[in-house]
Amino acid sequence: MDFEESPACKQYFASKIRKAGMKGKAREHQLDFSTRCFTGGHTREIMSLKEEQLQSLAGELTSCRSCPLREDCKAPVGWYGCADSPLVFIGEGPGGVEDDYGCPLIGPSGQLLDKALWSVQITRDRVLTSNIIKCRPRGNRTPTLAEADFCGKIWLERELAILQPKVIVALGTVALHYLGEPSMRITRQRGQWFQTRQGFDCIATYHPSYILRQYGKEQVQAKWQVYHD
Ligand code: URA
Repeated sequence: MDFEESPACKQYFASKIRKAGMKGKAREHQLDFSTRCFTGGHTREIMSLKEEQLQSLAGELTSCRSCPLREDCKAPVGWYGCADSPLVFIGEGPGGVEDDYGCPLIGPSGQLLDKALWSVQITRDRVLTSNIIKCRPRGNRTPTLAEADFCGKIWLERELAILQPKVIVALGTVALHYLGEPSMRITRQRGQWFQTRQGFDCIATYHPSYILRQYGKEQVQAKWQVYHD
């Protein structure tokens, strides 16, 4: 993959645009950026079957108005990465940066996820990242279980049916509750394998935002726990 198309390059430009306050230019970029994100950053002529199916799903997602969350966000945020990857990371839902740029996990949490992946020689374009809910809740609040269930059934289940991942990593409580059971606790069940309703092997770990909220020794300990998970 060219540097031009890498997540690092996109992050670089995103921060440049923000710093320069180039609003019109930013919007132009956002369009280009989200089209690329939906196709996993690829501009190849030949797409795999999964990429084609995902692209058609992305077309439907763009016009989704199935729930009130859509009214408070810029646009639904889909997935990013390699459709043929055996490894899929599922977060909670888009935050402010993701809503602005139309790509999942590119804000502070996503950047920490990148570092965790780099520590085991994986770059983001080799895996697929997505979220349980596709529209940013107003004020960045945590989505309710009902919202997660409603959105997840319409979009995530269809994504996963196309992707057929070998392993799903659930990031944090919302993903664990949706992919596993609402009675599961991230502190107890992290690092343990379970099967999702659709029969995929899944393992949960702390959400990167949880780690970012820790300080000092606690943060170091949480990072090691995620590394071991
Ligand atoms: N951004 C995302 O895309 N997902 C999260 O879970 C958090 C921030």
